[in-house]
Amino acid sequence: MYTSKIEGIGHYVPENIVKNGDLEKIMDTSDKWIVERTGIEERRWFDPEKDTVANMGTRAAKMALERANTDVNEIDFIVFATITPDYFFPGSGVLMQRELGLQGIGALDIRNACSGFIYALSTADQFIKSGMYKTVLVVGAEIQSSALDKSTEGRSSAIIFADGAGAAVLKRNEEGSGVLSTHLHADGDFAEELYMKDPGSSREVRLSKDLLDSGSFNVVMNGNVVFKHAIVRFKEVIEEALLKNELAAEDIDLLIPHQANLRISNFVQKQMGLPENKVFNNIMHVGNTTAASIPIAMSQAWEQGRIKENDLLCLAAFGSGFTWASALIRW
Ligand code: COA
Repeated sequence: MYTSKIEGIGHYVPENIVKNGDLEKIMDTSDKWIVERTGIEERRWFDPEKDTVANMGTRAAKMALERANTDVNEIDFIVFATITPDYFFPGSGVLMQRELGLQGIGALDIRNACSGFIYALSTADQFIKSGMYKTVLVVGAEIQSSALDKSTEGRSSAIIFADGAGAAVLKRNEEGSGVLSTHLHADGDFAEELYMKDPGSSREVRLSKDLLDSGSFNVVMNGNVVFKHAIVRFKEVIEEALLKNELAAEDIDLLIPHQANLRISNFVQKQMGLPENKVFNNIMHVGNTTAASIPIAMSQAWEQGRIKENDLLCLAAFGSGFTWASALIRW
C-alpha cells in the first residue's frame, strides 16, 4: 500500500500589516487587551487591488512546488480548503487551477473552516493511498478581513481573524513514512456558535437591504463557548492520533496547532505535558487565518529549521462546525 509524504510547503501573506494600534483607531479596544486575550500583536489584511484567495493560494503553491523540486505539470489533483472563496460559486480551487495553467485536472474545494487544511490533507492522502493520484496540491487560503464587523460591536472577532495562504505538495511515497494517520470529527449541534449566516440559500430572497443592515453577512462568534470546546477537542484528537500509532506525547517533535488563539495553544501545550519549544506558534504576527493557519505555520516552522528529516510532526485543529481534526506526520 502507498503512503503520502509532504515534499514541499509554502505560504503567502498579504503585505498589508495591521497592528493592534491600528485597530485602536477604529474600534474601542487596546493593544494590551488583544495581546493578553489572544497573543496577537499584528495580522495581515488583504489588499483588494492585489490579493484574491486564488492568487494567494497560487503564490503559496509556487513556493511549495519550488521547495519540493516539482514541476507544476506533475500535479494530478488540487484540494483547496477555504470558507471564503472568491466567488459564491465555483470554488477557488478551479481559479487556482487556471492560474497554474493546469486545465483538465480535478479541483475540489473543502469548506471546513479552521479544520479545513487537515480535512484537505486527509482527502489528498486517501487519493494517494488508493493509488488514484501520485501528486496532489493541498491548499488553505482565506480572506476573512472583508467579512469582519470592524466596529466596536464586532471587536471580539475583528481582532482575531486575518488573511493568507499556505500550500503543500503531497506525493506518493514508497518508504513507509510521511502521513501516518488523519482523524476528522464534527458536531453540527454547535454550527451557530461560530458562523456567517449569509448569503444563505434557504431564504426566499437571498439579498435585501434589510439583510445587509442586519449584520448577517458578518462573522459571528461565541468566544467563550468556542474556547471551552476547543481546549477539550484539541487534546482529545491529538491523543486519538497518538493512540492509533502507538506513540506517546513525548514522541512528538513539533506540535503545530491551528492558530486560533495563543491562550488555547498554551493551554493545549500544558495539557499534553509538552515543553514550550515543541509547540509552534506564529499567531502573534499573522492572526487567525482559518484554513490557511496550519500550512502557513508549517512553512514558517520549516524555514526556521524547526522541522527536520524524520521528525514526528503533529497537526491539530478546531473550528467552526464545530469541526476538529489531527494528523501525525513522519517528516
Ligand atoms: N477589546 C476590548 N474589549 C473587548 C474586546 C476587544 N477586542 N472584545 C471583547 N471585549 C470585552 C467584552 O465586551 C467584555 O466586556 P464586559 O465585561 O464589559 O461585558 C469583556 O471584554 C470580556 O469579554 P469576553 O467575551 O468574556 O472575553 P473573553 O475573555 O472570553 O475573550 C475572546 C474573548 C474572543 C478573546 C475569547 O473568548 C477567545 O479567545 N475565544 C476563542 C476564540 C477563538 O479561538 N476563535 C477562533 C476559533 S477557530
